[in-house]
Amino acid sequence: MFTLEVKDVIRQNRDTATIRFSASMRSYPGQFVMLYLFGYEEIPLSLSSPDSITVKGVGETTNALLKVKAGDVLGVRGPFGNPFSPSKKALIVAGGIGIAPMAFLYDSLKRFGAEIKVIYGARCGEDLIFRDKFKNTAFFTEDGSFGNSGTVVDGVKEEDLDQYERIYVCGPGGMISELLEVFKREGALSKTEFSLERMMRCGIGVCGSCVLDNGLRVCADGPVFKGDDII
Ligand SMILES: Cc1cc2nc3c(=O)[nH]c(=O)nc-3n(C[C@H](O)[C@H](O)[C@H](O)COP(=O)(O)OP(=O)(O)OC[C@H]3O[C@@H](n4cnc5c(N)ncnc54)[C@H](O)[C@@H]3O)c2cc1C
Ligand code: FES
Repeated sequence: MFTLEVKDVIRQNRDTATIRFSASMRSYPGQFVMLYLFGYEEIPLSLSSPDSITVKGVGETTNALLKVKAGDVLGVRGPFGNPFSPSKKALIVAGGIGIAPMAFLYDSLKRFGAEIKVIYGARCGEDLIFRDKFKNTAFFTEDGSFGNSGTVVDGVKEEDLDQYERIYVCGPGGMISELLEVFKREGALSKTEFSLERMMRCGIGVCGSCVLDNGLRVCADGPVFKGDDII
């Protein structure tokens, strides 16, 4: 484990913040770190850039992380896990806090000149973060308070998937299951990559707490998986 000092904290909305560190990590989009705040459990968080994580408060540790300030020091292991593959024509699909690793992916693909469309959804408009960051984006909210009314699955169904070289997905379990079916039906599964979440302890493939039904470990074999491998 090493330590990183917090450079600043950008509040994104009522329950989500981006914590920026004073140093960058050698990392790739899709990778995660095991983050340790003194007195709390160590938890996995995706990198939202080489020097930041974006955390949503859902329990004890994540809510405590929302209160860290510039100058605080956090323990870090990693970065761990398989990253996303590069592509020149990309469709990024994100639900809720699943947008965190996609922010890093978006910046990285853009730097290499990729053409990118983003489909991003949440429960309501206030839950949509990084709203000004992405160009060519279709927003979806379940309550219709911002963008299109509906879910990202509705957005994906309207797309001509043939035009994309790769399709990247991160979001809640229900959304992932539905999208796997849509991509299978459309014959697009082989070009999809999904970032999955499971409870983690070791983060390095030893403890078995993140094993999927098919025997793959999210920490060491993922968290980014090809659609074909998880269908
Ligand atoms: C590879 C990976 C990347 C992640 N990236 C991010 C990220 O960028 N931003 C972010 O906000 N969160 C991310 N998470 C989820 C984050 O790790 C959990 O929200 C966190 O561990 C919850 O800790 P807690 O003590 O606050 O909540 P707890 O009190 O432990 O749990 C609160 C709720 O969250 C659920 N939960 C706990 N841990 C996980 C988990 N690992 N995966 C799914 N659900 C969980 C619990 O079942 C419970 O319902 C990621 C998880 C993984 C595995
Ligand atoms: S978290 Fe221990 S095997 Fe994945």
